[in-house]
Amino acid sequence: MLAISPTDRVFVLTGAGVSAESGIPTFRGVNGLWRNYRIEEVASPHAWRHDPRLVWEFYSMRRRVASAAKPNPAHIALAKLEQRLGDCLFLCTQNVDDLHEQAGSVRVAHMHGELFKSRCDRCSRPPFHDTNTYDPPVDLPQCECGGRIRPHICWFGEVPFDLDRIHAALDACTLFVAVGTSGVVEPAASFVAQVSGGARTVYAGPESPANASSFTKCYLGKAGEVLPDLLGAKCAS
Ligand code: OAD
Repeated sequence: MLAISPTDRVFVLTGAGVSAESGIPTFRGVNGLWRNYRIEEVASPHAWRHDPRLVWEFYSMRRRVASAAKPNPAHIALAKLEQRLGDCLFLCTQNVDDLHEQAGSVRVAHMHGELFKSRCDRCSRPPFHDTNTYDPPVDLPQCECGGRIRPHICWFGEVPFDLDRIHAALDACTLFVAVGTSGVVEPAASFVAQVSGGARTVYAGPESPANASSFTKCYLGKAGEVLPDLLGAKCAS
Protein backbone atom coordinates (compact mmCIF):
# COMPACT_ATOMS: atom_id res chain seq x y z
CA MET A 1 0.00 0.00 0.00
CA LEU A 2 1.28 3.48 -0.83
CA ALA A 3 1.99 5.66 2.18
CA ILE A 4 0.09 8.94 1.78
CA SER A 5 0.67 11.61 4.43
CA PRO A 6 -1.52 14.66 5.16
CA THR A 7 1.05 16.90 3.45
CA ASP A 8 1.07 14.87 0.23
CA ARG A 9 -0.49 16.21 -2.95
CA VAL A 10 -1.51 13.30 -5.16
CA PHE A 11 -1.89 13.50 -8.93
CA VAL A 12 -3.55 10.50 -10.56
CA LEU A 13 -3.50 10.09 -14.35
CA THR A 14 -5.75 7.39 -15.76
CA GLY A 15 -5.84 5.94 -19.25
CA ALA A 16 -7.94 3.47 -21.20
CA GLY A 17 -6.61 0.53 -19.15
CA VAL A 18 -8.53 1.65 -16.06
CA SER A 19 -11.80 1.04 -17.91
CA ALA A 20 -10.69 -2.18 -19.67
CA GLU A 21 -12.11 -4.44 -16.95
CA SER A 22 -15.43 -2.62 -17.37
CA GLY A 23 -15.57 -3.81 -20.98
CA ILE A 24 -14.44 -0.63 -22.74
CA PRO A 25 -11.72 -1.42 -25.28
CA THR A 26 -8.33 0.29 -25.07
CA PHE A 27 -6.81 1.95 -28.15
CA ARG A 28 -3.54 0.14 -28.79
CA GLY A 29 -3.98 -3.37 -27.37
CA VAL A 30 -4.68 -6.58 -29.33
CA ASN A 31 -8.36 -5.67 -29.72
CA GLY A 32 -7.66 -1.95 -29.48
CA LEU A 33 -9.86 0.58 -31.27
CA TRP A 34 -6.99 1.83 -33.42
CA ARG A 35 -6.62 -1.68 -34.89
CA ASN A 36 -10.04 -1.30 -36.53
CA TYR A 37 -10.30 2.44 -37.13
CA ARG A 38 -7.89 4.95 -38.57
CA ILE A 39 -7.38 7.90 -36.21
CA GLU A 40 -7.28 10.41 -39.07
CA GLU A 41 -10.64 9.13 -40.42
CA VAL A 42 -12.63 9.32 -37.17
CA ALA A 43 -10.80 11.46 -34.61
CA SER A 44 -9.37 14.57 -36.24
CA PRO A 45 -10.61 17.97 -37.42
CA HIS A 46 -9.88 16.78 -40.98
CA ALA A 47 -12.18 13.77 -40.47
CA TRP A 48 -14.93 16.07 -39.20
CA ARG A 49 -14.67 18.29 -42.29
CA HIS A 50 -14.33 15.37 -44.67
CA ASP A 51 -16.87 12.81 -43.33
CA PRO A 52 -18.85 13.91 -40.23
CA ARG A 53 -21.19 10.93 -40.65
CA LEU A 54 -18.34 8.47 -40.17
CA VAL A 55 -17.14 10.47 -37.15
CA TRP A 56 -20.61 10.32 -35.56
CA GLU A 57 -20.87 6.60 -36.40
CA PHE A 58 -17.63 6.03 -34.45
CA TYR A 59 -18.66 8.09 -31.42
CA SER A 60 -22.22 6.65 -31.48
CA MET A 61 -20.69 3.17 -31.28
CA ARG A 62 -18.52 4.31 -28.37
CA ARG A 63 -21.53 5.88 -26.61
CA ARG A 64 -23.38 2.57 -26.88
CA VAL A 65 -20.46 0.60 -25.45
CA ALA A 66 -19.84 3.08 -22.62
CA SER A 67 -23.49 3.37 -21.66
CA ALA A 68 -23.55 -0.37 -20.92
CA ALA A 69 -20.38 -0.24 -18.77
CA LYS A 70 -20.19 -0.13 -14.99
CA PRO A 71 -17.27 1.05 -12.82
CA ASN A 72 -14.80 -1.62 -11.69
CA PRO A 73 -12.81 -1.85 -8.42
CA ALA A 74 -10.14 0.54 -9.80
CA HIS A 75 -12.66 3.35 -10.35
CA ILE A 76 -14.13 2.66 -6.92
CA ALA A 77 -10.70 2.72 -5.23
CA LEU A 78 -10.04 6.15 -6.79
CA ALA A 79 -13.41 7.48 -5.67
CA LYS A 80 -12.66 6.31 -2.12
CA LEU A 81 -9.27 8.00 -2.32
CA GLU A 82 -11.01 11.27 -3.18
CA GLN A 83 -13.29 10.86 -0.16
CA ARG A 84 -10.17 10.45 2.00
CA LEU A 85 -7.99 13.17 0.49
CA GLY A 86 -10.47 15.76 -0.80
CA ASP A 87 -8.64 18.62 -2.53
CA CYS A 88 -5.27 16.91 -1.97
CA LEU A 89 -6.12 14.56 -4.85
CA PHE A 90 -6.17 15.71 -8.47
CA LEU A 91 -7.72 13.09 -10.75
CA CYS A 92 -6.93 13.62 -14.42
CA THR A 93 -8.22 11.16 -16.99
CA GLN A 94 -7.55 10.71 -20.67
CA ASN A 95 -10.75 8.67 -20.79
CA VAL A 96 -13.93 10.10 -22.21
CA ASP A 97 -16.27 7.64 -20.45
CA ASP A 98 -18.01 8.62 -17.20
CA LEU A 99 -16.99 5.63 -15.09
CA HIS A 100 -14.99 7.71 -12.58
CA GLU A 101 -18.10 9.81 -11.94
CA GLN A 102 -20.32 6.71 -11.78
CA ALA A 103 -17.98 5.34 -9.10
CA GLY A 104 -18.42 8.53 -7.08
CA SER A 105 -15.46 10.72 -8.08
CA VAL A 106 -16.62 14.32 -8.09
CA ARG A 107 -13.65 16.37 -9.35
CA VAL A 108 -12.42 14.78 -12.56
CA ALA A 109 -10.38 16.63 -15.19
CA HIS A 110 -11.32 15.07 -18.54
CA MET A 111 -8.38 16.27 -20.61
CA HIS A 112 -9.62 14.53 -23.79
CA GLY A 113 -13.26 15.54 -23.39
CA GLU A 114 -16.42 13.67 -22.49
CA LEU A 115 -18.24 11.10 -24.57
CA PHE A 116 -21.67 12.07 -23.27
CA LYS A 117 -21.31 15.73 -24.16
CA SER A 118 -21.63 17.49 -27.51
CA ARG A 119 -21.03 21.04 -28.64
CA CYS A 120 -21.53 23.29 -31.67
CA ASP A 121 -18.62 23.44 -34.10
CA ARG A 122 -19.41 27.08 -34.85
CA CYS A 123 -20.90 29.10 -31.97
CA SER A 124 -19.90 29.51 -28.31
CA ARG A 125 -22.87 27.62 -26.88
CA PRO A 126 -21.39 25.62 -23.96
CA PRO A 127 -20.99 21.83 -24.28
CA PHE A 128 -24.17 20.02 -23.23
CA HIS A 129 -25.11 16.56 -21.97
CA ASP A 130 -25.98 14.32 -24.94
CA THR A 131 -26.47 10.55 -24.89
CA ASN A 132 -27.98 10.34 -28.39
CA THR A 133 -26.55 8.17 -31.11
CA TYR A 134 -26.42 9.45 -34.68
CA ASP A 135 -26.05 6.50 -37.00
CA PRO A 136 -26.88 6.82 -40.69
CA PRO A 137 -29.56 7.35 -41.99
CA VAL A 138 -30.31 9.58 -38.97
CA ASP A 139 -29.75 13.23 -39.83
CA LEU A 140 -26.68 14.84 -38.33
CA PRO A 141 -27.56 17.12 -35.41
CA GLN A 142 -27.54 20.86 -36.06
CA CYS A 143 -27.26 23.83 -33.75
CA GLU A 144 -29.80 26.68 -33.81
CA CYS A 145 -27.04 28.88 -35.25
CA GLY A 146 -26.75 26.59 -38.30
CA GLY A 147 -23.46 25.05 -37.12
CA ARG A 148 -23.02 21.30 -36.76
CA ILE A 149 -23.14 19.54 -33.40
CA ARG A 150 -19.94 17.59 -32.81
CA PRO A 151 -18.73 15.28 -30.03
CA HIS A 152 -17.09 17.17 -27.12
CA ILE A 153 -13.82 15.30 -27.63
CA CYS A 154 -10.25 16.51 -28.04
CA TRP A 155 -9.24 15.15 -31.43
CA PHE A 156 -5.71 14.67 -32.69
CA GLY A 157 -4.39 18.09 -33.60
CA GLU A 158 -6.56 19.85 -30.98
CA VAL A 159 -5.50 21.21 -27.60
CA PRO A 160 -6.52 19.10 -24.57
CA PHE A 161 -8.87 20.61 -21.99
CA ASP A 162 -7.94 21.95 -18.53
CA LEU A 163 -4.19 22.18 -19.19
CA ASP A 164 -3.70 25.19 -16.87
CA ARG A 165 -5.25 23.38 -13.91
CA ILE A 166 -3.39 20.20 -14.80
CA HIS A 167 0.02 21.91 -14.90
CA ALA A 168 -0.64 23.65 -11.58
CA ALA A 169 -1.52 20.30 -10.01
CA LEU A 170 1.60 18.69 -11.50
CA ASP A 171 3.77 21.47 -10.03
CA ALA A 172 2.26 20.88 -6.58
CA CYS A 173 2.28 17.10 -6.61
CA THR A 174 4.40 14.96 -4.27
CA LEU A 175 3.00 11.61 -5.44
CA PHE A 176 2.21 10.90 -9.10
CA VAL A 177 0.23 7.76 -9.93
CA ALA A 178 -0.44 6.71 -13.54
CA VAL A 179 -2.83 3.86 -14.25
CA GLY A 180 -3.52 1.97 -17.48
CA THR A 181 -1.93 4.26 -20.01
CA SER A 182 0.61 3.25 -22.64
CA GLY A 183 2.68 6.42 -22.18
CA VAL A 184 2.87 7.27 -25.86
CA VAL A 185 0.30 10.06 -26.32
CA GLU A 186 1.39 13.62 -25.53
CA PRO A 187 1.07 15.72 -23.52
CA ALA A 188 -0.03 13.13 -20.91
CA ALA A 189 3.00 10.91 -21.57
CA SER A 190 5.31 13.70 -20.35
CA PHE A 191 3.42 14.53 -17.14
CA VAL A 192 5.51 12.09 -15.10
CA ALA A 193 8.71 13.82 -16.21
CA GLN A 194 7.32 17.23 -15.21
CA VAL A 195 6.76 16.56 -11.51
CA SER A 196 9.40 17.80 -9.07
CA GLY A 197 12.48 15.65 -8.49
CA GLY A 198 11.43 14.78 -4.95
CA ALA A 199 8.02 13.38 -5.92
CA ARG A 200 7.35 9.63 -5.92
CA THR A 201 6.10 8.37 -9.28
CA VAL A 202 4.35 5.03 -9.67
CA TYR A 203 2.63 3.20 -12.52
CA ALA A 204 -0.03 0.47 -12.33
CA GLY A 205 -1.00 -1.70 -15.28
CA PRO A 206 -0.38 -5.15 -16.73
CA GLU A 207 2.70 -4.14 -18.74
CA SER A 208 5.37 -1.47 -18.45
CA PRO A 209 4.43 1.73 -20.31
CA ALA A 210 6.68 3.29 -22.97
CA ASN A 211 7.80 5.93 -20.42
CA ALA A 212 8.51 3.36 -17.66
CA SER A 213 12.02 4.71 -17.05
CA SER A 214 10.47 7.93 -15.64
CA PHE A 215 8.68 6.07 -12.84
CA THR A 216 10.14 5.23 -9.44
CA LYS A 217 8.20 1.98 -9.45
CA CYS A 218 5.83 0.01 -11.72
CA TYR A 219 3.21 -2.28 -10.15
CA LEU A 220 2.37 -4.83 -12.82
CA GLY A 221 -1.18 -6.16 -12.85
CA LYS A 222 -4.72 -5.24 -13.81
CA ALA A 223 -5.91 -1.93 -12.38
CA GLY A 224 -8.94 -3.53 -10.72
CA GLU A 225 -6.67 -5.94 -8.87
CA VAL A 226 -3.70 -3.68 -8.10
CA LEU A 227 -5.28 -0.31 -7.20
CA PRO A 228 -7.53 -1.29 -4.27
CA ASP A 229 -4.47 -2.70 -2.43
CA LEU A 230 -2.13 0.07 -3.54
CA LEU A 231 -4.51 2.83 -2.43
CA GLY A 232 -5.72 1.02 0.68
CA ALA A 233 -9.28 1.05 -0.61
CA LYS A 234 -10.25 -2.61 -0.72
CA CYS A 235 -14.02 -3.12 -0.79
CA ALA A 236 -15.43 -4.84 2.30
CA SER A 237 -17.01 -8.08 1.09
P1 OAD B 1 -3.74 2.85 -24.83
O1 OAD B 1 -4.71 1.97 -25.54
O2 OAD B 1 -2.65 3.46 -25.60
O3 OAD B 1 -3.08 2.03 -23.64
C1 OAD B 1 -3.85 1.30 -22.75
C2 OAD B 1 -2.97 0.81 -21.62
O4 OAD B 1 -3.80 0.14 -20.71
C3 OAD B 1 -1.89 -0.18 -22.07
O5 OAD B 1 -0.65 0.23 -21.54
C4 OAD B 1 -2.32 -1.50 -21.43
O6 OAD B 1 -1.20 -2.25 -20.96
C5 OAD B 1 -3.12 -1.01 -20.24
N1 OAD B 1 -4.14 -1.96 -19.76
C6 OAD B 1 -4.84 -2.90 -20.44
N2 OAD B 1 -5.68 -3.56 -19.60
C7 OAD B 1 -5.50 -3.00 -18.37
C8 OAD B 1 -6.07 -3.24 -17.08
N3 OAD B 1 -6.98 -4.19 -16.87
N4 OAD B 1 -5.64 -2.49 -16.05
C9 OAD B 1 -4.70 -1.51 -16.24
N5 OAD B 1 -4.14 -1.25 -17.43
C10 OAD B 1 -4.53 -1.99 -18.48
O7 OAD B 1 -4.62 3.93 -24.05
P2 OAD B 1 -4.18 5.35 -23.46
O8 OAD B 1 -2.76 5.35 -23.02
O9 OAD B 1 -5.22 5.75 -22.50
O10 OAD B 1 -6.84 9.80 -27.16
O11 OAD B 1 -4.30 6.24 -24.76
C11 OAD B 1 -4.10 7.62 -24.65
C12 OAD B 1 -4.94 8.32 -25.69
O12 OAD B 1 -4.69 7.74 -26.96
C13 OAD B 1 -6.44 8.13 -25.52
O13 OAD B 1 -7.00 9.02 -24.58
C14 OAD B 1 -6.96 8.40 -26.88
C15 OAD B 1 -5.96 7.56 -27.65
O14 OAD B 1 -5.78 7.82 -28.97
C16 OAD B 1 -7.77 10.41 -27.92
O15 OAD B 1 -8.70 9.83 -28.45
C17 OAD B 1 -7.57 11.90 -28.04
